[in-house]
Amino acid sequence: MEMVDLIKTKRDGHRLADGQIKWFIQRFAAGEIPDEQAAALTMAIYFRGMEPDELNVWTQAMIDSGDTLDLSGVGRPTVDKHSTGGVGDKVSLILVPLVAACGAAVPQLSGRGLGHTGGTLDKLEAIAGWKAEMTASAMVSQLREVGGIIAGASADIAPADRRMYSLRDVTSTVDSIPLIASSIMSKKIAEGTDALVLDVKYGAGAFLREIDKAREAAETMVRIGNDHGVRTAALLTNMDTVLGRAAGNAVEVQESIDVLEGGGPADLLEVTLALADEMLQLAGLDADPAEVLASGRAREVFDQMIAAQGGDLSVDLPQAAHRSTVDATESGYITRLDALSVGIAAWRLGAGRTRKEDPVSAVAGVICLRKPGQRVSAGEPLLELRTDDPERFTDARAALAEAVAVGPEPRSNSPLVADIIR
Ligand code: URA
Repeated sequence: MEMVDLIKTKRDGHRLADGQIKWFIQRFAAGEIPDEQAAALTMAIYFRGMEPDELNVWTQAMIDSGDTLDLSGVGRPTVDKHSTGGVGDKVSLILVPLVAACGAAVPQLSGRGLGHTGGTLDKLEAIAGWKAEMTASAMVSQLREVGGIIAGASADIAPADRRMYSLRDVTSTVDSIPLIASSIMSKKIAEGTDALVLDVKYGAGAFLREIDKAREAAETMVRIGNDHGVRTAALLTNMDTVLGRAAGNAVEVQESIDVLEGGGPADLLEVTLALADEMLQLAGLDADPAEVLASGRAREVFDQMIAAQGGDLSVDLPQAAHRSTVDATESGYITRLDALSVGIAAWRLGAGRTRKEDPVSAVAGVICLRKPGQRVSAGEPLLELRTDDPERFTDARAALAEAVAVGPEPRSNSPLVADIIR
């Protein structure tokens, strides 16, 4: 087989043969395909797309490039959630213990943040002693005994994707729906879950800004999941503004604990409960997540999950040494609080990383003291910036220069959950 033939086939808009796909992914994962040829193929896919059955073969080949987890010994129905990423998206920290407390096992393998959206592992690492790394057998025991894990995905899960993602990143082929869908779904299917709910975000702070693009990605992923025997559904959720009030690491852990204790912001609770309902339906469990949350059982499972991975919640979460506010320049109603700007500000304060190997600050972040729809008076604080390094305030403030709009009338907020795709 010759790589140029595959490139030409796709360049001319034809379907790749199953054998060609398997041949390519296997060799690419082994480092045997020159990057320029792999890049040409991904660019051809970017422009020409893939047919549904072609994409299934591609996704399966990515799964087959590495290990898959066997969760058959867990003894509970397994169901996971994947979010395409948003600002202030700390939903997993609440949802995993909540759905586990409802009787499911939630095997969430997660990643670290890059750019303006935070990573779940970075957030949990703000807890003293908590470790993301787990062996496969420790995962199965914890799922059986506690019901939930949030852990780092091992390098052996879909290694072809790791390599391909790096290549897409430097060849401007990240935002291709078949490549996004196969990348996400290969990792989630390899994780061994029976069911999966996708939280596909759209709007200013989302990776896919247009709802039509987000819908197309959601439909593609739902189809791939179901075709691979993983019961899959997707929620399309709005990411024009920050989810909840906190964007950062320790600050998001604190907000998640607030929700687990019966408080926290209403928007965060709404998205979490909508995802929990869908997960429980797919898992075939008849439980009311709002009731379980109110009972305190989700909080107990959270404590067990954290302790099982070495975390010590008796140690206070770290606090930033410096705080500064951004104040309202006029009176009225907040009509816009741009998620992307807040995400970039949190990142510049130290909460996120630019390169994969950069460390993150546990304490840095932004707290939204007011949210869209609320009334403010000129001079009132709108945002609180937190960091250990006060030199970062200037750049963070610059990111927020156009973040907030105030008008004379309240504007109705878009619905948080725009649609459910099953
Ligand atoms: N997240 C992934 O895991 N892969 C993509 O291609 C895009 C987002």
